[in-house]
Amino acid sequence: MGPEAQVTNLVIDPSHRRQGKGERLLSFLLEQARAEGCLRCTLDVRAANIAAQQLYGKAGFQMVGRRPGVYTAPMDDALLMEKCL
Ligand SMILES: CC(C)(COP(=O)(O)OP(=O)(O)OC[C@H]1O[C@@H](n2cnc3c(N)ncnc32)[C@H](O)[C@@H]1OP(=O)(O)O)[C@@H](O)C(=O)NCCC(=O)NCCS
Repeated sequence: MGPEAQVTNLVIDPSHRRQGKGERLLSFLLEQARAEGCLRCTLDVRAANIAAQQLYGKAGFQMVGRRPGVYTAPMDDALLMEKCL
């Protein structure tokens, strides 16, 4: 959307996790967004999803907000994360 890219979902098959593939896929997506003129990237992640938060934190995303009760089954807060490109 304009100068902003948004990660909606990023999934690595369970049998391929913890091999650096999520990090490489995210890095590729951010590079593509940067090349297309995006200035920042945003995303929402479940508060309970520590693996994804670690991945995004390692990639330079910072927590900028929290939306209570956004996710359902089970209910959870959404953490808003952002990275300048
Ligand atoms: C989140 C996800 C994409 C990570 O993919 P992955 O290929 O396993 O991740 P990588 O091997 O590239 O790991 C990169 C970094 O992420 C973090 N990380 C990944 N899995 C983790 C785990 N189980 N626990 C803690 N940190 C984890 C670590 O910081 C890791 O760096 P390190 O290896 O130096 O410790 C994967 O777990 C997944 O598909 N989860 C289900 C879908 C999901 O939750 N997507 C995000 C929704 S917004």
